[in-house]
Amino acid sequence: MKIPVIIDCDPGIDDVMALLLAFSREELDIRLITTEPGNQTQNKTIYNARAFTDYMKQEIEIARGLDQPFFRELEVADDVHGESGLGEVLFPEPALPESNRTAIDAMREVLNNSEEPIVLIATGPLTNVGALFLAHPEVKEKIRYISYMGGAAVAGNMTPFAEFNVYVDPHAAEIVFRSGVPIVMSGLDVTHKAYITMEELDEIINMGTDLSNKIGSMLNFYTKASKKTGFHEEHFDRVIRLHDLCAVSYVVTPELFDGDDCHVVIEMEGRHTAGATVVDYTQSTGKPRNAKVLHSVNREAFVEQFLGAIKKMGSLIN
Ligand code: RIB
Ligand code: CA
Repeated sequence: MKIPVIIDCDPGIDDVMALLLAFSREELDIRLITTEPGNQTQNKTIYNARAFTDYMKQEIEIARGLDQPFFRELEVADDVHGESGLGEVLFPEPALPESNRTAIDAMREVLNNSEEPIVLIATGPLTNVGALFLAHPEVKEKIRYISYMGGAAVAGNMTPFAEFNVYVDPHAAEIVFRSGVPIVMSGLDVTHKAYITMEELDEIINMGTDLSNKIGSMLNFYTKASKKTGFHEEHFDRVIRLHDLCAVSYVVTPELFDGDDCHVVIEMEGRHTAGATVVDYTQSTGKPRNAKVLHSVNREAFVEQFLGAIKKMGSLIN
């Protein structure tokens, strides 16, 4: 039985790795891809989603989301993902057109028309999902759960407390976290452990396909970012953290991960803490546990899954 999914993303180098894994998995039925601003502007993230999806020979609707976060000024991560959003890699001009539906309308219609509940995979700021829930709350019952890359129980990567995706749009994140839709949160607590080593990067580059060369180049570019995270972690400057990949990997192989059900709320306005995901992992508030917060991953199996996806798709498309 295939798992129907919608992928909401801001490609973005690690978003591309997440899309690659999703495209490689037979068990996923990808009904729609939507994009939002985050790593780069909306114009660039939707172009990148079209270009990579087309290059991977996938026929999937790609719909444009909101142009800006709810209230905050958009801060892109061009220092991490580059001017284009995909490092220095150029994909062929995509023939795959942008959907004539907006992301909100497309998500609403795909969800309402689905016979079974859909898993929503989100790997960027939650601007689109928050807007969807405000505009069409009835769709919540058609979402099985949200597999979300974002947040952190301990330490951020944009500020001492805030992880990038939540930092960009904390107000949208709060709408989603209090929506009542179950969330599996792949925050930095687990994504810090979901890394590839430089030797594993060499293994990718040595695969020798056009895809592996492009993936290797993007990950090389992305390496610089890994030096900015990994508070007091060993060899934090010699690994590449594949944050968004966790959100897809969990859907196909949840057994690789472990986490705790916790109450999570978003700090929206704190002078030093805006964008923090306040994870009540000791249940001190006694409030409902609205998210499964992941904290560990079987890294070897995770990396094997990722390298297998590159090998499989590299031979299919090149
Ligand atoms: O903090 C990591 C997250 O921010 C990832 O989704 C990455 O793509 C960036 O959007
Ligand atoms: Ca992302």
